[in-house]
Amino acid sequence: MEEVLKLEGVSVRFGGLTAVHQVDLSVRKGEIIALIGPNGAGKTTLFNLLTGLYQPTSGIIYYKQRKINHLKPFQRVKIGIARTFQNIRLIKSFTVLENVLIAHQSCNAEKVWESIFVTKKVKKKRIDVVNECIEILKMVGLDHKIYEYAHHLPYGEQRLLEIGRALVTNCQLLLLDEPAAGMNSIEKQKLIEIIKSLSNRLNIEILLIEHDMRLVMNIADRIVVLDHGEKIAEGTGSEVRNNPKVVKAYLGEEKEYA
Ligand SMILES: Nc1ncnc2c1ncn2[C@@H]1O[C@H](COP(=O)(O)OP(=O)(O)O)[C@@H](O)[C@H]1O
Ligand SMILES: [Mg+2]
Repeated sequence: MEEVLKLEGVSVRFGGLTAVHQVDLSVRKGEIIALIGPNGAGKTTLFNLLTGLYQPTSGIIYYKQRKINHLKPFQRVKIGIARTFQNIRLIKSFTVLENVLIAHQSCNAEKVWESIFVTKKVKKKRIDVVNECIEILKMVGLDHKIYEYAHHLPYGEQRLLEIGRALVTNCQLLLLDEPAAGMNSIEKQKLIEIIKSLSNRLNIEILLIEHDMRLVMNIADRIVVLDHGEKIAEGTGSEVRNNPKVVKAYLGEEKEYA
């Protein structure tokens, strides 16, 4: 199956610390991959490498068969890589709709003359963008809250709004950093359904970092385990669960793994 993302021997060092070491990873068309591992394993750092916030010290990152090591974060968004953050990054004093509108791919594409001479065509384009944003908000279950301020949303819905903001960039590869963090079990169930339906309806690839193993087992086609920056296992839920290296890595963190 076609590989959308491929990492070959990717490492990054910060001074004396190797946060990610020689990681090989691939995401194929339509896959949902879970990236798990104890705290400090290098999961978020790997996302930062994929989105261009960090440059690999060595190794190659391919996206759709093209080497993208040199691309800047905004260029990676343009080619279809979008993410959410472990710490929510919404504009809290903006409404739900405004938060997705400013993230929309064509938000910054309006020409100066278009904002001065608002022709019928420009108006139509703006309406289309708003409708598209509302459609995305529907997909993440927030269309009934479009005029709410982001800071009025419960925590779980703020996380869904983050996903909405990533989606309006028209992404192909969606990176979710701990999307269920802080959610209760009802919110988590809703999140599982939303992620599955996004994968089906939008035909996108999803790479998610998550600690909740029930959620991971429920949605991931494949699980990749990092520990101390290294990939120590990869496979289905039961393969990974029974891998002695994984069990060892999680000793002392059994609560999160349970
Ligand atoms: N910019 C940075 N400078 C120095 N060390 C960093 C930086 N980013 C991450 N690290 C270190 O890399 C390791 C992996 O961190 P991180 O990727 O956040 O782990 P995880 O997301 O798996 O919990 C940690 O030891 C962290 O302190
Ligand atoms: Mg992290």
